Amino acid sequence: MSGSNPISESTVAQAVAAALAAISGATDLASLRSAKQATVGEQSEISKLNAQLKALEPEHKAAAGALIGKARAEINAAFSSKEEQFAAAEELAKLSAENVDMTAVAMRVPFGARHPLSLLQDQISDVFVGMGWEIAEGPELEHEWFNFDALNFDADHPARAMQDTFFVEPVESHLVLRTHTSPVQVRSLLERELPVYVLCPGRVFRTDELDATHTPVFHQVEGLAIDKGLTMADLRGTLEHFARIMFGAEAQIRLRPSFFPFTEPSAELDVWHPGAKGGARWVEWGGCGMVNPNVLLAAGIDPEIYQGFAFGMGIERTLMFRNDVRDMHDMVEADIRFSQQFGVNL
Ligand code: PHE
Repeated sequence: MSGSNPISESTVAQAVAAALAAISGATDLASLRSAKQATVGEQSEISKLNAQLKALEPEHKAAAGALIGKARAEINAAFSSKEEQFAAAEELAKLSAENVDMTAVAMRVPFGARHPLSLLQDQISDVFVGMGWEIAEGPELEHEWFNFDALNFDADHPARAMQDTFFVEPVESHLVLRTHTSPVQVRSLLERELPVYVLCPGRVFRTDELDATHTPVFHQVEGLAIDKGLTMADLRGTLEHFARIMFGAEAQIRLRPSFFPFTEPSAELDVWHPGAKGGARWVEWGGCGMVNPNVLLAAGIDPEIYQGFAFGMGIERTLMFRNDVRDMHDMVEADIRFSQQFGVNL
């Protein structure tokens, strides 16, 4: 044996172990590259050992050279596999950051919601269309004759007074903003063939101040049935069916004697509302009665042959006790959050 060999297996193994630890400690491509520089670069332990090869005795050179070559290969392989791993992860991150969902629906405008009064009006219409009735409409700017005279209102009836009715100028035009949907009764009788079964939902106007329970513009729904031999029992049965669809199977109705110029006999309609907040109770719902023969005569119909019934109720009022809406302001202010509580129903 001549001369010593500083490039021992254990020295090389130590350098390799340190290099592998540095590589596996790298957290991204950049730190991996600086780890490579430090472990196989010019200033690295392996390069320094390599530089000592020249000074070795010839008999050690081959074995030491092979040791260092194997060490380099081992470190390079570890580096390459770690580099591939990082490159794949970075590619994946980039792709998922750029990912576009081609199936997503573009939201260009925020969704609205139908107003609960429109929804309720449609729901009520469906109940009657389901029984074979037709939907009728009339103008909101109405002639006094349809709004009052043809409905048997006396010339001095208090409802005609300025404090209830919006009269439209000039006064000689005899136009009013309709105060109820009942003028559509007369229009339907004039325009349609008998028998008539119509439901008339629509906007009506009265000179009320807006407060928690009143609004100068509101909605009513009017029902009118004219046929041969209709009686008060038909009126009761129809209203009971309507009430049960609106308020549940346990709903009941009650008729209390009242007066309207266009019905005789007339009644106030109460409904037993089983689902009322705070417990089931009777609630005033609307007016009704047997159509006054004078109304039939005004429409050119012989009351000896045809008879029938009519009813009318407020849609706002119905929504208030049916859905526990406490303040009329919520219905007129058009805050989308109010409407959305009733569902984004199309
Ligand atoms: N038009 C009446 C009102 O506005 C309601 C009603 C309609 C009464 C039909 C009887 C028959 O108060």
